[in-house]
Amino acid sequence: MNGIMREFVLFSRLGKTDAHWKNLHDAGRLDIVYECAVASLFLSHAIRKDVIFHAILNGPPNPPLHLKIDGETLHDVRTDQQTWTQILKKVLSRKHHPGISVSKTSFEALIRIKAQTAPIYVLEEGGKDINQIQLGQNPVFVLGDHVGLPKKVENFALRFGQKVSLGKQPYLAATCITILNYILDRKQSADKS
Ligand SMILES: C[S@@+](CC[C@H](N)C(=O)[O-])C[C@H]1O[C@@H](n2cnc3c(N)ncnc32)[C@H](O)[C@@H]1O
Repeated sequence: MNGIMREFVLFSRLGKTDAHWKNLHDAGRLDIVYECAVASLFLSHAIRKDVIFHAILNGPPNPPLHLKIDGETLHDVRTDQQTWTQILKKVLSRKHHPGISVSKTSFEALIRIKAQTAPIYVLEEGGKDINQIQLGQNPVFVLGDHVGLPKKVENFALRFGQKVSLGKQPYLAATCITILNYILDRKQSADKS
């Protein structure tokens, strides 16, 4: 393992839980899942082996569905939307793709498991400024989709973690992940020198 291990959890309110759709946007905004997966897992010409990306899909017909993408074992991918449309269709049809698993784990169950070994940070504009937080080992970051985290979901996650802000601007979820990866990459370089 080269870098600081980190995990991102996207709560997708409406992301479809089957493969009967034509494009990512109309599949309950699976385009946001795609954008967040790419922001989490890709460097230029390399996959981040120290990242795990999770999306909890809560759309029809069979929610919740936990999509887990592990940078350590992810293969046969590119960063374009067409490739990911095919990959998401494949795994939502329960076919295998290296590095990706699909299960019936709920958001609540995932957070409970993660909280046993890692600090949980819930991303929200109104949280504590990230610059004033000493991030713990192997952080897990929780984000909402275009609508934001449902209050009940946010409150559940906050039983295990704290609210963190990247500033007052409302960023796209994928932009937040890029910023977090950057902050952790810089921290890692500083820790080494
Ligand atoms: C597009 S935003 C959601 C916007 C939605 N209108 C809301 O009020 O939550 C998607 C997610 O990105 C995260 N986010 C966006 N801007 C942020 C910021 N400045 N600081 C921390 N998290 C942020 C939050 O987790 C949010 O749920």
